[in-house]
Amino acid sequence: MKRSVRVFALITAISCMSILGTACNKSKEADDRADSVVASSSEVIATTPAATSTPTPSPEPTFTPTPSNTPTPSPSPTPIPEYVEPILEGGPIWYDGYVDPRSVRAEIVADPSDLTVLVNKYYASPSWYVPELVYAKYSDSQQLRPEAAEAWEKMHDACMADIGGDLYLISGYRSWETQTYSFNNAITRRGLDKACCKNAYPGRSEHPLGLGLDINVRSDPEIRDNFVYTDVGKWVLEHGHEYGFIWRYPAECGSITGYGVEGWHFRFVGVEVATYMYDNGIRTLEEYYGKPQLMPNEYNE
Ligand code: DAL
Ligand code: ZN
Repeated sequence: MKRSVRVFALITAISCMSILGTACNKSKEADDRADSVVASSSEVIATTPAATSTPTPSPEPTFTPTPSNTPTPSPSPTPIPEYVEPILEGGPIWYDGYVDPRSVRAEIVADPSDLTVLVNKYYASPSWYVPELVYAKYSDSQQLRPEAAEAWEKMHDACMADIGGDLYLISGYRSWETQTYSFNNAITRRGLDKACCKNAYPGRSEHPLGLGLDINVRSDPEIRDNFVYTDVGKWVLEHGHEYGFIWRYPAECGSITGYGVEGWHFRFVGVEVATYMYDNGIRTLEEYYGKPQLMPNEYNE
């Protein structure tokens, strides 16, 4: 019996040692597996062989011609001759409070195409200037700057709709030659004093700008000082600014504008300036610019 107890104890001891050994091995395997995951992923990164697919051939470089340095010849600009006005000797000559335009040298305006440009006996457009022109409606083949022609048409239609007034354009654009003829003809027909009061010397008129309009109604296509006192004329005085027009030579403003009253002559300056003048009671473009004409006692040249 003693011997069988010893044998049992021996067998039990051997079994325990075997179980403990298996547990240690299992733990070691787990550690190895974890190491192997880390190792294998780092190996994938480190040891993945270079792609073996056939490389796409890079395109042959195309031939880019070297730009030639030869400049394209640009047309040489046509030189614009400086316009120098002729002038009468002897300084400013006055007739009944109106200066003879030929006796004062006007400053040539920098931009005659500016719709708001001031042109009078002291500020002139250059002789070479011819504006873009279109034929104006409600006239006998008169021409105006497109902006003025469009505004004229609108004003005509509004006047017709409001009071049945059939506005008519008697004279719009005048060429330099026509303006020259008009001035000289006025001297011959009316005398120098009247010409200096009512007729502009070439360059000093708004007609060659395509922005001056002599108007009346279709039934009376003549220039009349009393136009602004007719119903249609009063309507134009009241509403002209809405279309960009101002009465250019009002009564009692001859000492400012250099011209006597002209009940027929209107000027397109655009809605902004015309409305500003209307709203602020500014009668003349000279006052708008703060440049009234110089009177004999103010002229110091
Ligand atoms: N009658 C105006 C001043 C002109 O000839 O332009
Ligand atoms: Zn006129």
